[in-house]
Amino acid sequence: MDKIVIEGGYLLHGEIPVSGAKNAALPLMAACLLSAEPIILRNVPDLRDVRTFLTLLESFGVKWQKDGTVLVLDASTITSCEASYELVKTMRASVLVLGPLLARMGTARVSLPGGCAIGARPINFHLQGLEKLGSQNELSQGYVEAKVEGRLQGGTVCFDIPSVTGTENILMAATLAEGITVIKNAAREPEIGNLVDLLIAMGAGIKGKDSDTLVVEGVKKLHGAEQEVIPDRIEAGTYLIAVGAVGGEATVTHCNPQHLPALLEKLRAAGLSIEEGQDRIHVARKGPLKSVDIKTMPYPGFPTDLQAQIMALMTLSDGLSVIAETIFENRFMHVAELHRMGADIKVDGHSAIVTGTGRLSGAPVMATDLRASASLVIAALAAEGETHISRVYHLDRGYDDLVGKLSAAGARIRREKE
Ligand code: EPU
Repeated sequence: MDKIVIEGGYLLHGEIPVSGAKNAALPLMAACLLSAEPIILRNVPDLRDVRTFLTLLESFGVKWQKDGTVLVLDASTITSCEASYELVKTMRASVLVLGPLLARMGTARVSLPGGCAIGARPINFHLQGLEKLGSQNELSQGYVEAKVEGRLQGGTVCFDIPSVTGTENILMAATLAEGITVIKNAAREPEIGNLVDLLIAMGAGIKGKDSDTLVVEGVKKLHGAEQEVIPDRIEAGTYLIAVGAVGGEATVTHCNPQHLPALLEKLRAAGLSIEEGQDRIHVARKGPLKSVDIKTMPYPGFPTDLQAQIMALMTLSDGLSVIAETIFENRFMHVAELHRMGADIKVDGHSAIVTGTGRLSGAPVMATDLRASASLVIAALAAEGETHISRVYHLDRGYDDLVGKLSAAGARIRREKE
């Protein structure tokens, strides 16, 4: 197993490029199951989750070719409709195959994902939504068995709370249903807009992109199409926060500043200078960091996927910051590791109270999940001395060449065998 070793205190500078978004690429890949014609995706990131998803698609008979960041998927022949526990347990996003398989093949057997490091994360909204479209779901031996006689039927699906992959699953299923489906209280994350664009390019009738109500007019067949994966807003946000934590100034490139409204506002309030370009954000820290309060919310609110990273930044501020996590019930696993680096954080229910001490010190720490690992990298870049972060495979799931990108920007960071 690899670990990352970081010598803290080196300012970041220059340009840090952002790759395609993990959470956009995975649903776009799932959408290939809806058509017998090839789907071409551009700007696909090189990530462990993308490779796991390709293995999952292969298990259904999908053929693929990847050349750099271009991925061609061919689901002309589907030989199996079963997503095994072995694959689903390593990546919850596997549940995204349920809607497309059911819509095209009339049947799908997908392992229930179980809990994970950040919360229980049930899939009841996905299942209830598909039932509204006529799916008969049964739970057996840890698997969801969904089936429908003939085509799915359009219907109204209203989410109790907006679910990102729930919205994507119902959206994909509805494209091949008979009649009109209305999805209310839909999630509005930009990754869903990216999926809407691909589905429309495949011949789907969808109105309401980027709104909380999506109206889908089902068609009998979808055809091949091409789509570019949007830039990863969480990767971009992670690098912006890193520059804020370490100091110096840098430009995060190949990103979409409009996808980060809540973060950019908070970084400005924390005293950073932020200049937005068309596809780049310049960030500079010239003075002390001010404390800001954070509450995670569905998009366009502050993303839960940046909560751990901004917490690392707040440990370096000059005051008290209250960070409330409203999306997942157990997303403070990074707190215990940040304590080991000298942070002063108290968890009280769904909130963490961070008393900024202005400094951290290097220590051996352990990554517990993807975004928690990113927060440890940020803390380590700013800390005095050396930090060893073990269980780096979490980072490999969602950050394309993190070590290469940060070392090119001046960080002393390397990967080593444990
Ligand atoms: N929820 C339910 N029932 C459901 C679905 C969701 O109760 O059937 C609850 C969840 O437990 C949570 C809330 O609804 O409290 C919202 O969860 P959501 O369904 O939106 O999360 P998700 O679709 O499973 C995606 C991202 C996550 C990201 C969340 C929130 C992908 C592949 N994953 O998960 O990304 O944190 O939305 O924005 O898009 C990550 O990249 O590190 C990551 C965890």
